Amino acid sequence: MQKILDNIAAEMARETDRGKVADYIPQLAHIDPNQFGIAVATPDGHMYAAGDASTLFSIQSISKVFTLTIGLGKLGDTLWTHVGREPSGDPFNSIVMLEHESGRPRNPFINAGAIAVVDAIMMGHKPKETLGEILQFVHLIADDESIRFDHKVAASEMAHKDRNASLAHFMKSFGRLRHDVDNVLGTYFHQCSIAMNCQQLASAGLYLVSNGVDKHSGVRVINEKRARRINSLMMMCGHYDGSGEFAYRVGLPGKSGVGGGILTIAPGKGSIAVWSPGLDHVGNSKLGLKALERFVQKTGWSVF
Ligand code: DON
Repeated sequence: MQKILDNIAAEMARETDRGKVADYIPQLAHIDPNQFGIAVATPDGHMYAAGDASTLFSIQSISKVFTLTIGLGKLGDTLWTHVGREPSGDPFNSIVMLEHESGRPRNPFINAGAIAVVDAIMMGHKPKETLGEILQFVHLIADDESIRFDHKVAASEMAHKDRNASLAHFMKSFGRLRHDVDNVLGTYFHQCSIAMNCQQLASAGLYLVSNGVDKHSGVRVINEKRARRINSLMMMCGHYDGSGEFAYRVGLPGKSGVGGGILTIAPGKGSIAVWSPGLDHVGNSKLGLKALERFVQKTGWSVF
């Protein structure tokens, strides 16, 4: 395994076409695109890593997997009254379907869906309390209490919130959000700002490799049926309008973020985190996708 990762990191270091760093969040615009990291965590406790696997990056939309898990734990299947579970085929920040679908977002991974999930899990609490809960959950699954929010990234998103604020207000006009829009957005931007490295992220994904059991503590974080369903959703919707391409080239459940990270789950086998800040035209890590494609070719870790 180590040799496979070393080879992939060496191959990615030679790539010249590295995509474009997200610049609609100014705080992310200056990140050096010449970075690449990969880490694999296995349920038997091994961790393999290569490249810039210990460099922190903004996990952004990957956090939506964790808030979905928290949401299903807190609300059970009632969560599906707040958000759907169908692929959208539209960009992550699209507003277009909301109008025809009475303000109910297609799935929990597009921005509107994640905003609806965070509103659902707030349950009348203050943003600080919900954020404490989210961070505590991430500490548990990653087995690492050093993980923090990056308040500069959150503030940068808040200062350029127009698109997400539109989504939130539009949903609220359909009676879909219960809390004050700015409180919901502040919570959402902070969850997206969580800074992790590939090793921490791979470690955090292990509960989805192991049917919902956190391998570090032995704690069941979600039941088996729901863990399987989160993986299905990651497969179908985890890369927005690039989900079909990801399933075609990688064949595993995966969730991307505009920070350039991708968390990928090989059920029963391992959790793979890749990071390279340059994005493709739909906002997913360009080299991350390429590296995962190589990884699956070399290991045969695909669900198909
Ligand atoms: O709300 C946003 O636009 C970002 N905080 C998250 C978007 C994102 O990560 C999309 N992923 N590829």
